[in-house]
Amino acid sequence: MAAKRILLIIGGGIAAYKSIELVRLLRKAGMTVRCVLTRAGEQFVTPLTLAALSENKVYTDLFDLKDEVEMGHIQLSREADLVVVAPATADLLAKMAGGHASDLATTLLLATDKPVLAAPAMNVRMWLHAATQRNVATLRGDGVTVMEPDEGEMACGEYGPGRLPEPEAIKAAIDEQLAASRAGSRVSTSLDTNEVLQSQPDFAPANHRPLHGRRILITAGPTHEPIDPVRYIANRSSGKQGFAIAAAAAEAGAEVLLIAGPVPLPTPPGVIRIDVETAREMAAEVAAGLPVDAAIMVAAVADWRAAETQGQKIKKDGSGFVPPLALAENPDILASVAQSPDRPPLLVGFAAETNDVIAHAQAKLARKGCDWIVANDVSADPMGGASNRVHIVTPAGVDSWDRLPKDAVARKLMEKIADELDARAPPESTHAAD
Ligand code: C5P
Repeated sequence: MAAKRILLIIGGGIAAYKSIELVRLLRKAGMTVRCVLTRAGEQFVTPLTLAALSENKVYTDLFDLKDEVEMGHIQLSREADLVVVAPATADLLAKMAGGHASDLATTLLLATDKPVLAAPAMNVRMWLHAATQRNVATLRGDGVTVMEPDEGEMACGEYGPGRLPEPEAIKAAIDEQLAASRAGSRVSTSLDTNEVLQSQPDFAPANHRPLHGRRILITAGPTHEPIDPVRYIANRSSGKQGFAIAAAAAEAGAEVLLIAGPVPLPTPPGVIRIDVETAREMAAEVAAGLPVDAAIMVAAVADWRAAETQGQKIKKDGSGFVPPLALAENPDILASVAQSPDRPPLLVGFAAETNDVIAHAQAKLARKGCDWIVANDVSADPMGGASNRVHIVTPAGVDSWDRLPKDAVARKLMEKIADELDARAPPESTHAAD
């Protein structure tokens, strides 16, 4: 098979240094890499470093003026199998969404007929700004695969989503995109997210609806447990994996009810979303949402809440008095659904572990009374990342998957759930009375 050719456009931003590692990973995997540096990108990495690592000429804005005869824009942008923008800054995403052709990078992006993958990196406020979110939605609608940025501490000291995904995660997304293009399943423009399925070479996303007629309930995100009107107990769950699962379930044709803790994520197309704040609110909405064909509990529900919530802000009186914080245990939603008369035929829990991942997941399977546990090792990779390495633990055994972007984990999980539901009750017989 011919080596895959990547055209890598490197935008400006402190994260640009990570593109060096990305080039190294791509070269190691036998891919050909041509780099294009924007004018801002040149402030962070040098053409010389990239040329040495990619073993190829590096193109900058100067090329626009001098080298047009050597290789035109159109040729450069079409010679690749995939165009990758990393880091994709807010400015670059805005220009892409607006169809600008104001420099070499944007001209190439407008002229290409190849799939485009963008890995965003910017300040958290810039990422969450309505304008950026609108641009991302436009680009996804146009068929561009826009990865979710990582969440964490930023170079500017703020915390939240906006960090460039790690080079390994970008490489995994590139592999996925190349596999999808090979299968001829160029991302559909009618769908919001990045529809690619590695496992099924002749997969046609628009017609492949293995969960058609199924009702699926998903919990996602953290819960917030109030201490007083301004303070609460929470955790670092980003909600990304649960939202990706909701998106994949809807794409697979299911009727999806997403019960979400407080997260600033857009509702995936076709999903019914109920926002809650506390574990007890989540438990009530889950109970009201039953019966369903499958429930997937991805939420990182707070184990404890403040035993008493104060109606007014607890004041620091300057005397050094530290108020005690008594805790009460929250309901275990997964375990109570397992005991419920409306227990879904397939009940799936999640487990984030830092050690003995599989043994803990097996114990949790028995303790919670669910059918599967999707276990992931978060020791090296805290919550909020863009990829996941999961093990599906069932009474029949353990199915360990490679590290994949969260949306790929979601789609693969939906395939497995569809197969399981079909094996238990084929859709024809379930809906014979329709
Ligand atoms: O016990 P642990 O929190 O590790 O279990 C994780 C699984 O249980 C996840 O599926 C989570 O959504 C679910 N869970 C729940 N209610 C709780 C705690 C966890 O549904 N109170």
